[in-house]
Amino acid sequence: MNLLQKLGINGNSHPGTAIGTEWLSSSNLLESFCPNDDSLLGKVEQTTPEQLEKVIAATHAEFLKWRSVPAPKRGELIRLIGDKLREHKDALGTLVSLEMGKSKQEGDGEVQEMIDMADFAVGQARMLYGLSMHSERPLHRMYEQWQPLGVVGVLSAFNFPVAVWAWNAFLAAICGNTVIWKPSPKTPLCSVAVHKICVDVFKEHGYGAVFSLINTTDIELSRKFIDDSRIPLVSFTGSTPVGREVGARLAQRFARSILELGGNNAVIIDESADLKTAIPPLAFAAIGTAGQRCTTLRRLIVHESLYKTVVDSLVAAYKQLKIGDPTDPSNHMGPLIDRDAVANYEKAIAAVKAKNGKIAYGGNVIKGNYVEPTIVEANPDWDIVNHETFAPILYVMPYKTLDEAIAINNQVIYGLSSAIFTTNLRVAEEFLSTRGSDCGIANVNIGTSGAEIGGAFGGEKATGGGREAGSDSWKAYMRRQTTTINYGTALTLAQGIQFNI
Ligand code: UN1
Repeated sequence: MNLLQKLGINGNSHPGTAIGTEWLSSSNLLESFCPNDDSLLGKVEQTTPEQLEKVIAATHAEFLKWRSVPAPKRGELIRLIGDKLREHKDALGTLVSLEMGKSKQEGDGEVQEMIDMADFAVGQARMLYGLSMHSERPLHRMYEQWQPLGVVGVLSAFNFPVAVWAWNAFLAAICGNTVIWKPSPKTPLCSVAVHKICVDVFKEHGYGAVFSLINTTDIELSRKFIDDSRIPLVSFTGSTPVGREVGARLAQRFARSILELGGNNAVIIDESADLKTAIPPLAFAAIGTAGQRCTTLRRLIVHESLYKTVVDSLVAAYKQLKIGDPTDPSNHMGPLIDRDAVANYEKAIAAVKAKNGKIAYGGNVIKGNYVEPTIVEANPDWDIVNHETFAPILYVMPYKTLDEAIAINNQVIYGLSSAIFTTNLRVAEEFLSTRGSDCGIANVNIGTSGAEIGGAFGGEKATGGGREAGSDSWKAYMRRQTTTINYGTALTLAQGIQFNI
C-alpha cells in the first residue's frame, strides 16, 4: 500500500472540500508536486463558489450547536484527535516531508507540534478563565466571561502545512468555535490527510462540521471567504504583502484577524558566547526547512573578536551537511518548495554579488529545486540583508558594541524571532530589556526557530502582531463579556448619579 492509500486518499482525484466528514466533488483539479523530483504526488478537487457557500452555511449551523457543548467536553474530543494523530504520526510526517520538502525529522516534528497543541488545548478547555471585579456599588457583582466567536477561518502556508492549522483549529474548537481551513495550494494533500484523521472523531461522537476544508487556487474565491460576514475571525499565515490585504479586508468589516507574516530573524553572538554549543543550533536555525520557516535565522550579528572563528566554524559545519531526498532520514536539508523559490534565491545571490559581497559558502543552485545552503559575509546596510528571502541564506556581520548589535537586530521591518548567545548575565538581560530586542520572540542561547507550542507565537511590526498557540493566545478566539449583576432591591447608578423620577 502506498502512503496516500495508507492515509485513505485516492491520489488520482480526491475532493478538497469537506463539511465535516462529507466530501464534495468537483472537476477542477489542483495538482500537487513533490519538490524533491517534481513528480506528481496526487490531485485534489478544488472548491467551487457554490460549495464555498455550502461549507460556510453548514459550518455556521454547526457553530450554533457546538457553542453550547461544555468546554471540557469539547476538550475531550480534541484529546481523542490527539490520540489519532499519535497513531498516524509516522505516515503524516512522511507526507509532510514528501509534499513540502522538509526533512522527515522535521515532518515528524511538525506532527508532534500538532499532538502537543492537542494536549495543550485539552487542558485549556478547563481554564477559559475570566476575572471577577469588585463593584463600586453595594450589592452588585461584576465579572467577565469569555464567549465563542463563531466560524473561524484559517489560511495556512506551505512551509508548515499541518502544525499551524492545528495551533489555530484546536484552540478555536475548545473555545466553542467551528473552523474552516484553507491550506496553501502547494500542500493540498497534507490538508486532506489531516482533515480525514480529525473529523472522524467528531462524527463518532455525533458532531458535524466542527472542522471544514476548502482548497482553491482562485484568489477571488479566497477573497469571498475572507469577506464573508459569517466569519468573525480569520487567522492568516503567509507573506507580509498578502497579510496586508487580508488585514485591511477584515478591518473594513470590523472582523478580527490574527496575522502571522514574514520574519527576518537575527542572532547576536556576544564575545562571551560559548561557541562549543552554539554552532549546531545556529546551523539548524539557518538551514532547517531549507530556510523556509518564518523563524529561520537569516542574520548573524557577531562580535568582532569572534567573527572569523564563527564564520570558519559555520563553513566547516555546512561542509558536513547532507542535502537530498528529504524522506531519507540521513539528510539534513531537502529542496526548496518550487522553481519560484529557487528564482528568489538566485535573485538574492545576484544582489549580494552586485554589492561585491563575499560568499563564504554555497551560492549556487544544485539542480531542480535544490540550492546550496549559503553563508554571506554581509553589511547590515544592504537592502537584501533587510529583506526576507525564503531560502537558506545566512548573512553574517561583525559588530563592536551591544547597542550597535541590538540596533541591527531591530532595524528590519519585521519583528518575529531573535536570540542572543552569551554567558554574560548582564548582556542577556540587556537584550531582554525595554532597550533590547523588539521581536515577539527573544531567546537566549538557543536559535530563532523551533519554538515550543507552550508560548504565544507571533511577532511585531510587519510580522503582523498576532499571537497563536500557547500562553493566553486562546483569548483571541473568544469575545470578552463584562457583566454587572445587581442582587439588591435598589437601583444604584455608577459615578454617583442620582436619577429620581
Ligand atoms: C512558521 O514558520 O510559520 O518556531 C511557523 C518554529 C515552528 C513554527 C514556525 N515551531 O520554527
